[in-house]
Amino acid sequence: MEIEEKVQKVKAITQSWRAQGHKVAFVPTMGALHEGHLALVKKAREVADKTVVSIFVNPTQFAPHEDFASYPRTLEKDLEKLKAHSVDLVFVPTENEIYPYGNATWVDVEDYPAKGLEAFFRPHHFKGVATVVTKLFMIVKPDIAIFGEKDAQQLAVVNRIVKDLFLDIEIIPHPVVRENNGLALSSRNSYLSEQEKQKACALYEILKTTAKTLEAEKNFEKARAQAWLKAAEYSYLAIEYIEIVDPITFKPLHGNIYDSTYSCFAVIAAKIGSTRLIDALRIGG
Ligand code: PAJ
Repeated sequence: MEIEEKVQKVKAITQSWRAQGHKVAFVPTMGALHEGHLALVKKAREVADKTVVSIFVNPTQFAPHEDFASYPRTLEKDLEKLKAHSVDLVFVPTENEIYPYGNATWVDVEDYPAKGLEAFFRPHHFKGVATVVTKLFMIVKPDIAIFGEKDAQQLAVVNRIVKDLFLDIEIIPHPVVRENNGLALSSRNSYLSEQEKQKACALYEILKTTAKTLEAEKNFEKARAQAWLKAAEYSYLAIEYIEIVDPITFKPLHGNIYDSTYSCFAVIAAKIGSTRLIDALRIGG
């Protein structure tokens, strides 16, 4: 497994792979790797000849009051895990490598799907995500990139960038990987105490209730109302949003479902103590 810090080196390696006719799959991460990340890596290995993983805690997607400084950094352990998963190349750039001239050029999705929900509570977040993901795409030039459905709005934003900028990259979504109690794996779960981890499965319970109601009633308002009723059972959750959205536009859905092939996401963000968690559940096809 090669470990590289330099943009030019990564460009040269992936360029030579492409020249040899290899298909390259890419998994961008911020490290503190868990089984959710590793499931994406496994998928990448299945669909391509060469797998690249990046580990970069991207400062521009954090607001000044957020957890950039305290975000878990476990590089040595991460590299061991990636080696055990036969990753070909790990890109571990410094901040100066990704933003050598500061940051004058941004990629900013100004409308849906980068509007509302996460964008409402973290106003500059997607501008940072879109910029760094585009930079990483320009460096690695993958054929395929894998993104998790846990960050369902991020996945929609990345899909929009790929379409708008005519990038020749296939984006493969991966289902959410969960603990036995339903809690979505997340690097930020390390902020939770054992007791809080038990409590945090409430997010998934609320999403399941939403899905069940939607499947039974075929009506978005009824499902939304039932979700909020369920949420009221968990007084320790400070809910930021619960929504049912279109998976591509991320606009809230309304009215009745008439089409049996519908597909949507139920999404939620909530704080337990000072830890902010998000989760998403795909409903329908
Ligand atoms: P990070 O939070 O490290 O997540 C990296 C990738 O792993 C994302 O695609 C995310 O959706 C996926 N992932 C995380 N937990 C998951 C789980 N439990 N099940 C399935 N997939 C999961 O998302 C980011 O980093 C950053 O915003 C990034 C895209 C790297 C840009 O900086």
